[in-house]
Amino acid sequence: MRVLATRRYPGPAFDELTDVEVLPLAALDGPRADVEGIVVANELVPLDLLPELRVVANFGVGYDRIGVEACHARGVVVTNTPGVLDAATADLAFALILATRRRVVEGDRLVRSGGWGRSWSEGTLAEELTGSTLGIVGLGRIGSAVARRARGFDLQVLYTQRTRVETELADYRELDDLLAESDVVTLHTPLTPETEGFIDARRLGLLRDGACLVNTARGELVDEAALVAELVFGRIRAGLDVFAAEPHVPTELIGLANVVLTPHLGSATRQARKAMTRLVVDNLRAVERGDPPLTPVSAGR
Ligand code: DGY
Repeated sequence: MRVLATRRYPGPAFDELTDVEVLPLAALDGPRADVEGIVVANELVPLDLLPELRVVANFGVGYDRIGVEACHARGVVVTNTPGVLDAATADLAFALILATRRRVVEGDRLVRSGGWGRSWSEGTLAEELTGSTLGIVGLGRIGSAVARRARGFDLQVLYTQRTRVETELADYRELDDLLAESDVVTLHTPLTPETEGFIDARRLGLLRDGACLVNTARGELVDEAALVAELVFGRIRAGLDVFAAEPHVPTELIGLANVVLTPHLGSATRQARKAMTRLVVDNLRAVERGDPPLTPVSAGR
């Protein structure tokens, strides 16, 4: 099966693809009837240029940009890579929780600018994580992994999601209550028409003074302009790994001390990325053999 890959994906499994062409989508300038499989990283698949496409293997768990419904309407299988990146993403969320709550990056800047002596002033003190309340929006695989990490920090853990579940990991709250009761809020929900912009100006206004908002899910979950306004005002803090129009980061955020910025690093560990490529290749092979894919995407936009 001839496969297009929009980049060289990491890990040895990629070399097992015997008939693969590495080509960014922007370079695809005409129809390709020879292509039956494509590997993308949550990119819109140009179905009109790929008339014989059988499978889209997404390198990543989130598939909000692919055009899943259009693929399914054409009978094209879509797969993703759930599970193998949970630990990596939960680790990064926790890194941002600690970094924002304990003002780690501000400390780093202080040292680099020769300001060590100022680190004892009242204005540079942070808040302890122990005893704080962590609100998890979306207690799926990654949200649950964050909740398990929170146990070691003696946090009170709340969660919210569409379907309430029986769990010992966290106590359920309605979204608005969770926002109002948490010291740190971390987002782990997929981007769907229902969740797009659902953390809007009103909901940001529910956050406590000094609360931290951490987003390692999707930038579009939050009304970014409203978030920027809150951060510029200085009432809350944020740890942001994702943005609405990546790689664009709102310029207002660059100079702010109360926000920690990372470039979509959620799954960026050697272990996760290697396992993601393994799953991508196994999904392609399953479809090639005519078997059910290991991790199909069943519905989506
Ligand atoms: C995902 O898996 O959706 C991540 O955003 C990719 O790093």
